[in-house]
Amino acid sequence: MKIKIENFNPARKKTEMLGGFVLENSDKILGLNNISSKISSSVKQSLKDLNGEMGKIVVIPTNNKVPAKRIVLAGIGKKEKITNDTIRFVSGKIAQKANELKLKEFSIITPSNSVIETVSATSQITEGCKMALYKFEKFKSKKEGLSPDLSILVSKSNKVSKAIKDSEIISDGVIFTKSIANLPPNECAPTNLASFAKTMAKKNKMKCTIFSKNELEKKGFGGITAVGKGSKNEPKLIVLEHNCGSKNEKPIVLVGKAVTFDTGGISLKPGDKMDEMKFDKCGGCTVLGIMKAVSELRLPLNVVGIVPSVENMPGGESYRPGDIIKLYNGKTAEILNTDAEGRLILADALSFGEKQYSPKAIIDFATLTGACIIALGTNVAAIVSNNERLKQKIKESSERTSEEVWELPLNDDYMDMIKSDVADMKNIGIGRAAGTITAAAFLRNAIEETPWVHVDIAGVAWTQVATKSKPYNPKGATGFGVRLILDYLQKF
Ligand code: BES
Ligand code: MG
Ligand code: ZN
Repeated sequence: MKIKIENFNPARKKTEMLGGFVLENSDKILGLNNISSKISSSVKQSLKDLNGEMGKIVVIPTNNKVPAKRIVLAGIGKKEKITNDTIRFVSGKIAQKANELKLKEFSIITPSNSVIETVSATSQITEGCKMALYKFEKFKSKKEGLSPDLSILVSKSNKVSKAIKDSEIISDGVIFTKSIANLPPNECAPTNLASFAKTMAKKNKMKCTIFSKNELEKKGFGGITAVGKGSKNEPKLIVLEHNCGSKNEKPIVLVGKAVTFDTGGISLKPGDKMDEMKFDKCGGCTVLGIMKAVSELRLPLNVVGIVPSVENMPGGESYRPGDIIKLYNGKTAEILNTDAEGRLILADALSFGEKQYSPKAIIDFATLTGACIIALGTNVAAIVSNNERLKQKIKESSERTSEEVWELPLNDDYMDMIKSDVADMKNIGIGRAAGTITAAAFLRNAIEETPWVHVDIAGVAWTQVATKSKPYNPKGATGFGVRLILDYLQKF
């Protein structure tokens, strides 16, 4: 999909489909002052029918009375209710319509500055359209592969051009994350994931180090090694480094859980929906997508991405309930459920990240607990943190990107819930109480004092039954977290 900016009078634009936004109860297309009198009657009727209802669209054929072949009106609701997601959402709808009609190109009129700030609007149009046109069809014999080009009609400025370029990179990061996260587990074992990371890093001239099973054992990554034992697909630790900050500046470390398939191991999961555990690598895929975009945006920062990757399988070599293992930081953990594997591999990665890089901040992403879905549902991620300032920054980015987060508490009483009789910690809490927090408490033990935010994306990483439908999140992985963290890093 190619995107270009045009400083064109929309009424004169020759295009297959001309899209414009309409406020509730309004009879005007935003940004279009004079609808040609030749077709104004049919447009007027459609505007009335649409009534600017948020998310609704109407296509009007113009019968060659104006240069545009079709006009598509897209409702954006009441002005007071417009959020940072409104234009992204509705643009996605328009793009999908263009796709459905098999158009080669379409155009969208940027709404006027008084309704939504122009630069932000063009970013949202870009992201909404690009993301909505992604489709996971690698394994379909018959591919749609449609990718209509888009003209954004807006008065040109350097700011607008930059916003669109950046948004294209950000959307490509999200699409990269989705396209590996959607891969089936037989096509994406830890070794495959590592090689995707390597290829991407090479293209973007980023440093990439892969730790093999032997190296992980030797270096004391007891969590990754234990969980990885049950599968003949060996574990890997992927480390990407983007060094565009000043030399002595401490980096920001991003960590992502990449369990390429989570059967639960010896504590085997029930069969129902087990296939969805191919998405247990989404945290790691999010980190890879962020790193790709960070390097393409050439952000003047030092950022490190760390992705521990394993397959959690039952077998004669598997780790077991009752085992006591030693994590990277020397602390011991009693295993009481092999299905609580994410925290073990993340603990190693977090301790390694802190020790190796002395970072300014650590942010981790993980499809960590089913309890998170019970607590917050499938549209909001849980965050747990040890640092007020960092947490606040993430919340602000969440507001701007509409990737929603909600904070859960973590005090000493929760830390006590994972104390073990025979080791420093146990890998589950007490019964099902506060499952998301006790998992975070385990992670908290892996770092000393570095500002840290943990993001549990179990509910939001892929579309589930209760997921709010969004045109830019078609079925499958959502890439949650990529836009959130890129916003945070861009504001740094
Ligand atoms: N990957 C799962 C968490 C999960 C389950 C995410 C369903 C999304 C949907 C994780 O490894 C896990 O199995 N967690 C257990 C922890 C429990 C044994 C303490 C869980 O949530 O049941
Ligand atoms: Mg598990
Ligand atoms: Zn898991």
